Amino acid sequence: MMHVAFLLLVVFTAAAPSKKVCSYQDILDYLNLTTNNSVFKLTRPILDYTHPTTVELDIILFAILAVIEKTQTFIPFVWATMMWNNERISWDPAQFCGIRQIAVPRDMLWRPDLFIYEMIQKDDSPLNPYVHVSYDGIVTSEEDMRVVSTCKMDVHKFPFDTQRCNITVGSAAHCIDEIRLFPFSNSSRATQFSREVMKTQGEWEFLQLSVNSSNYTIHDRQWELLVYTFTMKRRPLLHVINFLLPILFFLSLDLASYFIADHRGEKLGFKVTVLLAISVLLLILNEILPSMSNNTPLIATYCIVIFALMLLSLLETILVTYLMEKDSASQELSLRDNCKDKQEKVKIDEYNTDENKKTCCSCICKASDGEKQHEMLPVSEKVNTRIESGESHVLLLILEELQELQKALNLHLSCRKEGGKSFQWAQRINRAFFIFYVTTVSLFLPFIFIEWNS
Ligand SMILES: *[C@@H]1O[C@H](CO)[C@@H](O)[C@H](O)[C@H]1NC(C)=O
Ligand SMILES: *[C@@H]1O[C@H](CO)[C@@H](O)[C@H](O)[C@H]1NC(C)=O
Repeated sequence: MMHVAFLLLVVFTAAAPSKKVCSYQDILDYLNLTTNNSVFKLTRPILDYTHPTTVELDIILFAILAVIEKTQTFIPFVWATMMWNNERISWDPAQFCGIRQIAVPRDMLWRPDLFIYEMIQKDDSPLNPYVHVSYDGIVTSEEDMRVVSTCKMDVHKFPFDTQRCNITVGSAAHCIDEIRLFPFSNSSRATQFSREVMKTQGEWEFLQLSVNSSNYTIHDRQWELLVYTFTMKRRPLLHVINFLLPILFFLSLDLASYFIADHRGEKLGFKVTVLLAISVLLLILNEILPSMSNNTPLIATYCIVIFALMLLSLLETILVTYLMEKDSASQELSLRDNCKDKQEKVKIDEYNTDENKKTCCSCICKASDGEKQHEMLPVSEKVNTRIESGESHVLLLILEELQELQKALNLHLSCRKEGGKSFQWAQRINRAFFIFYVTTVSLFLPFIFIEWNS
């Protein structure tokens, strides 16, 4: 029984028609497609030369690698798909176990000589070594490319700008009656597809990818071009934090320095420091923006105006300081003379009345003595009431002398505060400039931000 079953099995296996086995090589053999068959390589694969080869192109944006304003370079990473018809290739899938598509090395077949007009650097990313060939003669080539392209950028609204960069694809040698170019997907599909596959966006937010066909004529020959336009918007946050805000902070510091006392040049030092800080920021800006530009970038206007305002305010401080120094110098002189006279007179008067002492220097400035009184040496009155012994008299003399000195000093200071003509001028200039400064800033800032937003 066992033997019969075994025999039957052997007979059945031998009798069954063997299932047909196909390999890709069978198709290549059938097509006569070999590496040294020049038929497929040398010329445009059409049987009638008047037929144009129709190339369908699809470009999808994978990533925006860099946008360099300084050198006007746009570097996207794209995925390009090319499809064209090879009239020398066709097979019946039914004869080859239903094989509908094979992959062959790209060098074995003719390829359309498409190139990118804006490309300024050879692409060094690895090439896809194969192209796909389908049974009806459609050849598909897919490539990931890092396109280093030149792009005219408008940095007028930097860092709130939107850039538009083109990638123009066309054939180098074949004109319109030889190669026709068509986009595989229209603008909205390309945009949507790009959004889906987009890996990194970095500083830039991808907005749109649009495709347009155009013709280019030179010497009576016409080429067909496909123009892919990438629209992207800068994310301004980094630049706002790094640049716009610090300048605004320095401006407010400069404004606040109005409340620093004028004398002894402290304000001057402060303002110079702030101005230096701004110039460092200007250096950074210089590295970002291109030197040639049609219209001045708003950010340059922003910086220059603020810088100019600060410079003006520095000059104003220098003027005011000069006026004050001049004033106080003359004050000091007259004060010293006056007080010397008065003090001698007071000494002769044997320090009798308070009235006498208070007249010191009152001719120059109307210092309110009531105010000054409490600032004097506090022990004076107490001691004054206890003039008893000779020793305390000496002590009292010293005290009186000190008191006199302090009064002179107080008067001197108050003279500087309320002082002479140039002093008053200095104060007037100060106030007027502050009002001008605040007004200019509060008009300029809204104006420039509206410009940025429009
Ligand atoms: C391939 O070449 C052989 C002869 O070498 C020829 O008979 C055959 O028709 C060719 N096949 C095609 C598809 O051209
Ligand atoms: C370019 O020329 C071809 C053939 O003459 C024509 O069909 C096509 O509409 C033209 N395209 C444009 C954008 O003018």
